[in-house]
Amino acid sequence: MEIRRGVIAIVEKDGKILMGKKKHKPGHFLSDAWHFPGGKSEEGESAEETLHREMKEELGVEIQIIKKICEYEAMYQDKKIIGTVFHCKTNDEPIAGDDLVEIGYFDYEGILKTHDKATFDRLPNEVKEFIEQFFNISVEIINGTDVSQPDLDQINKYRHMRLDRNSIWDHKINTGFEERTFFLIRKNNELVSFGTLRPIKIYIDGKEFEILGMQAVISIIQGKGYGKILTRTMIDYATKLDKTIIGFCERKNTEFYLKSGLYVWEDGNSKFFSVKDDGSEYAQEGDAIYFEGKDKFLSEAINNNKIIKHPIPHW
Ligand SMILES: CC(C)(COP(=O)(O)OP(=O)(O)OC[C@H]1O[C@@H](n2cnc3c(N)ncnc32)[C@H](O)[C@@H]1OP(=O)(O)O)[C@@H](O)C(=O)NCCC(=O)NCCS
Repeated sequence: MEIRRGVIAIVEKDGKILMGKKKHKPGHFLSDAWHFPGGKSEEGESAEETLHREMKEELGVEIQIIKKICEYEAMYQDKKIIGTVFHCKTNDEPIAGDDLVEIGYFDYEGILKTHDKATFDRLPNEVKEFIEQFFNISVEIINGTDVSQPDLDQINKYRHMRLDRNSIWDHKINTGFEERTFFLIRKNNELVSFGTLRPIKIYIDGKEFEILGMQAVISIIQGKGYGKILTRTMIDYATKLDKTIIGFCERKNTEFYLKSGLYVWEDGNSKFFSVKDDGSEYAQEGDAIYFEGKDKFLSEAINNNKIIKHPIPHW
């Protein structure tokens, strides 16, 4: 298998990050695309040497390394890519050289809007997390009982405004808070997006599984990529625990979940039967969204058109 080594540079200046637009190169995966500058290593070259050479060729600058963000391995087409990502700065004024046609420094929103989406999605999570931290976006994963009252007030306000929920979440009056995990995304310390996962026992052909039920996914500030950060954080969390995530969604949000890394089971909601204390059962219309863990339980359920039972009427 062909192995390619290369580097990516996250070059900062005045609170922004540099991107370049590749010239039109039919067949090249970055043709016409905005991306973080970088390039392939030559035979025998170290990652640091590649970085200095590429930045000189592509941008005409001497680069200073602040730190190595990560090393990663990825498959692209039939090639194995071994990459190193550096956080850098330069005192020089970059110019679009080599095969770039335009360059510019961008804020977080500008990067999300401008960076080639497929290329951005392929970046390792360490790089995405670095960029979030650089722009003062933080991710907090906490137990339900540790959520502060000001955060709960915001959460209840937006559950009411965005999801029409009138119930109040409060650890003093609701049970089960110790089981819920809250995911809080903040920008400049302000809560901008939140959601929860809670363990739920579900049954298929009488066999018990424990999944993570996704609940109350809301962005207070919409359309800035915070919902995607939230969902990605939840997926990472479930992956570490080897658990499956399941939630239910209105069709108008299906695309958001697909773009955020979840899968959609069309009309899947109607396969989930809530069993009440008196033994009666009911299901609702709508799609299910999921991220499958190692149990492979959902593939089994979907392929065999199984009825799934669970004890929680709404999660
Ligand atoms: C749904 C919701 C959580 C999305 O959060 P958000 O922070 O606005 O989403 P993001 O900015 O991270 O969007 C990520 C991507 O999904 C797309 N997207 C977001 N909402 C979308 C929608 N309703 N339809 C189609 N695409 C959507 C964005 O355009 C973006 O695409 P891109 O990556 O190609 O640029 C948010 O709009 C919200 O709070 N809605 C009200 C509450 C709600 O319905 N929650 C879901 C319960 S099922």
